[in-house]
Amino acid sequence: MKFRAWLGAAVLLASPLAASAQGELVLYCTVQEEWCRPMVAAFEKATGIKVLMTRKSSGEFYAQLKAEAANPKGDVWWGGTGDPHLQAAEEGLTEPYKSPKMAELQDWAVKQWEASKGRTVGIYAGALGYSFNTTELAKRKLPEPKCWADLAKPEFKDDIQVANPNSSGTSYTMLATLVQIMGEQKAFDFMKAMHKNVNQYTKSGAAPARAAATGESLIGITFQHDAVTQAVGGAPVKIVSPCEGTGYEIGSMSIVKGAKNMDNAKKWYDWALSVEAQAVGSGAKVSYQVPSNKAAPVPAQAPKLTEVKLINYDFVKYGSSAERKRLLTKWDEEISKLPK
Ligand code: G6P
Repeated sequence: MKFRAWLGAAVLLASPLAASAQGELVLYCTVQEEWCRPMVAAFEKATGIKVLMTRKSSGEFYAQLKAEAANPKGDVWWGGTGDPHLQAAEEGLTEPYKSPKMAELQDWAVKQWEASKGRTVGIYAGALGYSFNTTELAKRKLPEPKCWADLAKPEFKDDIQVANPNSSGTSYTMLATLVQIMGEQKAFDFMKAMHKNVNQYTKSGAAPARAAATGESLIGITFQHDAVTQAVGGAPVKIVSPCEGTGYEIGSMSIVKGAKNMDNAKKWYDWALSVEAQAVGSGAKVSYQVPSNKAAPVPAQAPKLTEVKLINYDFVKYGSSAERKRLLTKWDEEISKLPK
């Protein structure tokens, strides 16, 4: 074999080994892709571990963990609303773990860990709301919406975008929030009326904030911090914290039960709770959630949860598998099948 050919073959053989010297990590990521990517890069740089990342919505990964339970493919599920993480915990799909970083976390993050018997932990928090395109609203000379109730008004026909609660944790949070604010019957009556105004039920929770930013939809229901990302990027949007009050999420992280790369999963988990990791998203201007590490910087533009009229969201009830199944079946039957 000529030297160059030999060298080429040797490099080919050696490089996969070199790349996996610290092993791999299969990451299921449920925040927006723009935040998943710099997190992966920062972790790879800090540890030398190669990360294989996929982005899907909360309900999708929850279903995937169930489907893969006999032969787990993922190692860590990072991000996404806390409810499906609690449901996965209840069903034993995730692994209990106590990180040495627990003492550095906010109470709400630790409570999430306690509620799940150590199977999931809070990594960020954020309040639900909606945003509207101010240019479009002015053009159409419509009054500013301020409440949940406004979203059922006939003048907003086909003007609202929101995700499907089966796939999206954001939208499941809205469903559970409305039930807690209005009572179940009134919440379903409201969602039936709002259905006439919905132009699309998207798969991912944050997509409607982008649609409101571009004017593709007048209004987008999302977490408020997702609309902040658009506003910081220069979009003409106004963010609404609904007058009746609103729910919130405790974005969570869990280790997959039977993870093939368990040591690396714990390394990600500990790192993701550190100040350094929790500053990545705000540093890259892609995350405006409130971080769970008490010493992590809170971005100046992050909605101040103390100024939002937050409901006392019942995470135990709405994070239970039976309640999730019941509410989603009802939504499928009574809302999504309705003609417009
Ligand atoms: C966005 C938000 C996160 C939230 C996530 C849920 O990325 O910024 O705070 O946890 O959506 O995603 P999903 O697609 O399940 O609604």
